[in-house]
Amino acid sequence: MMDYSKIMCRRVQDIQPSGIRKYFDLLQGMEGGISLGIGEPDFQTPWHIRDAGIFSLEKGFTKYTPNAGLSDLRSAISRYLKRRFQLEYAPVGQILVTVGGSEGLDLTFRALLEPGDEVIIPTPSFVCYGPLVSMMHGTPVLVETRAENDFRLTPHELKAAITPRTKAVVLPFPNNPTGGVMGRGDLEALASVLRGTDIMVVSDEIYAELTYGGRHASMASIPDMYERTVVVNGFSKAYSMTGWRLGYVCGPRPIIAAMTKLHQYAIMSAPTTSQYAAIEALEHGDGDIEAMRDEYDGRRRFLVDGFRKLGLDCFEPLGAFYTFPCIKSTGLTSEQFCDRFLAEERVAVIPGSAFGPGGEGYVRANYAASMRDLAEVLVRLERFLGTL
Ligand SMILES: Cc1ncc(COP(=O)(O)O)c(C=O)c1O
Repeated sequence: MMDYSKIMCRRVQDIQPSGIRKYFDLLQGMEGGISLGIGEPDFQTPWHIRDAGIFSLEKGFTKYTPNAGLSDLRSAISRYLKRRFQLEYAPVGQILVTVGGSEGLDLTFRALLEPGDEVIIPTPSFVCYGPLVSMMHGTPVLVETRAENDFRLTPHELKAAITPRTKAVVLPFPNNPTGGVMGRGDLEALASVLRGTDIMVVSDEIYAELTYGGRHASMASIPDMYERTVVVNGFSKAYSMTGWRLGYVCGPRPIIAAMTKLHQYAIMSAPTTSQYAAIEALEHGDGDIEAMRDEYDGRRRFLVDGFRKLGLDCFEPLGAFYTFPCIKSTGLTSEQFCDRFLAEERVAVIPGSAFGPGGEGYVRANYAASMRDLAEVLVRLERFLGTL
């Protein structure tokens, strides 16, 4: 008998599976179940974008693209970033098209980290940062953000976490799972801590188009921060294109060159059909973004209001498509709450604790679901709370 635990990479074995998965597995096959668990838009990819993908297949565009992505796509990304976020990135040398923002994050850590380097990660946040840093023999330094600070990273918290080993800080805003955002003033305050250092910012801006209290500001647009920021973005959330697996990273030339080398060996090029669809998205998709964002905004208000009326404190999320109600008043832990709500009312929400320190006492409920389902969730929640 082979003992694979002796053969396989120790580091991989030590990584814990994501705490999110369990709830989807449980919900499978549950009749009448409603999931507010998944981090995915409920809209179809707009038809004209799908059509562009299909048309590229009809034209026979089924080969590899250049490693860094189609030249037309990189030019479209460059124009888009300037138009929407006042960011200047050259199509050649500063933009790499990746397999989702996910690959972009992985490559960023691979390109930056030496063993023992520390990466500051505000939590609660998306589940991938810590494991990706660990795989590079780096050390995740988790910094809890707090509801009383609107789940922002404060300059004081950032400063306190910095050591001589700090290589980078992840800026996961707009945030999954809290819905917290950081405005230009907040970013300026962090910049005043980072200016003059060699610390890089890994700015995960995948939800940049989904903000409800004003336009998203990118860290790379703050004075002196352009040279110390890698921007990760993609098509999954803004255009409802999760399954197309397409994203991109932008940053200083030497870093993008290193990432392109790794991407070339591990991936070759991102999916060709998706790249053609993405050009259409960037060039003719502003209206779709607007329409989806308006729809999310209505649902967001409805759900936050609903939680508050049922007596749950709920921070007002100003980005992404998640609410993060506080369930401490129920006396249950986040996991107990989610397990029982699923078992008793067939609704999947995710324990805040799955997103790192600071998440305990909260649950993540997305509003990428129909108004009808959201209304039904509130009915079931009222019944559930009544039994506690
Ligand atoms: C904060 C955040 N970053 C990155 C991603 C990765 O998205 P993708 O790889 O689909 O671009 C997600 C997906 O849920 C996310 O929530």
